[in-house]
Amino acid sequence: MLNRLFNKDSHERDDGLAPVAKVSELGYGKLKRVLVKGQPVVLTLLEGQTEQGQYNVVAFSAICPHALGDLAQGWLTKEEVDCPVHYYRFNIRSGECAYPKGGPKLRTYPVTIEGNTVLIKIEKPKWMDHTEE
Ligand code: FES
Repeated sequence: MLNRLFNKDSHERDDGLAPVAKVSELGYGKLKRVLVKGQPVVLTLLEGQTEQGQYNVVAFSAICPHALGDLAQGWLTKEEVDCPVHYYRFNIRSGECAYPKGGPKLRTYPVTIEGNTVLIKIEKPKWMDHTEE
């Protein structure tokens, strides 16, 4: 059952990229939660463009690495998100914990933009891997 749920999303492409949202669904500084391979991910659109001239979309885990707070309910300031539970602060590009220094690292995901579509590649966590070898 878990294999069917988490091995490959129905909309995941052969290259492992999964379309997760349209750029037009994202707002500057707004946090949008999506579910990818059973994992909650937060998307946000930042000002400016990437070096490749694409929309500046960032993706990171919605699960706070401190104590599982919901970062989709957090506050975004430029490129940092504050967790609403204990107010840890994370850089949403690097995942580094900005406050307190040396705190746990936030999981981030590379984003690909094709036209108006946001795609991310996400590996399922090891604990979800129940495939027989
Ligand atoms: S759960 Fe996020 S800071 Fe504690």
